[in-house]
Amino acid sequence: MQALLSAFRERFPGEAPIVVRAPGRVNLIGEHTDYNDGYVLPIAIERDIRFACRSRADRRVRLWSVNFNTDSEFELDQIELDPANPWSNYVRGVAAMLLREGLSLRGMDAAIEGNIPVASGLSSSAAMEIAAATAFQAVSGFRLDPARMALLAQRAEHEFMGVRVGIMDQFISRLGQQGHALLIDCRTLEYRAIPIPEAEYLFVVADSRQSRELAASAYNERRAQCEAAARLFQKELPDVRALRDVTSAEFRRHSARLPLTVARRARHVVHEDERVLEAVAALENADLKRFGALMNDSHESLRFDYEVSSEALDVLVAAARQVEGCLGSRLTGAGFGGCTVSLVHQDAVDAFRRHVSAVYQAFAGKEPYIYVTRASAGAGVLA
Ligand code: GLA
Repeated sequence: MQALLSAFRERFPGEAPIVVRAPGRVNLIGEHTDYNDGYVLPIAIERDIRFACRSRADRRVRLWSVNFNTDSEFELDQIELDPANPWSNYVRGVAAMLLREGLSLRGMDAAIEGNIPVASGLSSSAAMEIAAATAFQAVSGFRLDPARMALLAQRAEHEFMGVRVGIMDQFISRLGQQGHALLIDCRTLEYRAIPIPEAEYLFVVADSRQSRELAASAYNERRAQCEAAARLFQKELPDVRALRDVTSAEFRRHSARLPLTVARRARHVVHEDERVLEAVAALENADLKRFGALMNDSHESLRFDYEVSSEALDVLVAAARQVEGCLGSRLTGAGFGGCTVSLVHQDAVDAFRRHVSAVYQAFAGKEPYIYVTRASAGAGVLA
């Protein structure tokens, strides 16, 4: 925080800034369900992106990145991508969407700093978008419904970044609640905060530090396959608008008409939605064993049916499951590299660190980053 404030003072002398933050996320279960109108169960994490910002009298936006030690500037009336500074494109994309929404934006000076590892599956992009939207809101003073903000940030990602992401990451970054996971219905955007039982179990993230090449095109391809599957189900089941509307019984009855790969993608989504609802019941009954078993099932389904795991993630998950006191482990986020999340007894966290690090080191020649996560609050202005 000190580095952010002194960077701001140095670059933009004058009145003190407002500081806003938006967190990254870990999804506990419900992967690749959001763009199928289904259910997800993420938490916002303590790692975040912060903007120290102040309005300007003109329409200029001047950005300074503490992490990249570089700047980028644009005019609100002429927003273009900056290929030399991709980090700034999230801010540009969000500004464009807020303007298109008819909100009146003021120019701004902002210094930006974050501690969410980039491209590791913890949604640094969504955090950047939501932090930018929150910064514009703080300096411009417009009103914007939180769910609407998430939708606009998602649209920025579609139109400016070319990835057809679902709503989960932006939604949890804006609406996360401390000590709670959010069950989000990605069709209606209704949500319910589910308390994380104050038990002796913790969610532990292991970052494979594996870069996610081709992730964007593979992601868009998965999404297209799901849409194709929904259209095929619709021929028998006219009420199906998305895979969310197909039950596992209907899947069994009608999946023969689907090409094999498409059927496997659909099988993951249909069962994953059911697992999310079951996982919520398990949390509410403090049945963490059941919760862990559902995490394990989710991973196998992502690995074999959805095919978004990687060798590195499978190694991390297998090592995690060998630790006594680990109830379940799965990849989290889009996959193709990135992180796993495991449910681990607090007394087993040290053993988990040692064992998972050693196994992964032998496989990958580098240690994973391992951290315990706590459910934090969504985006807002810091006092
Ligand atoms: C990425 C996307 C989300 C979601 C997950 C997979 O994080 O941004 O919308 O689809 O992948 O569950």
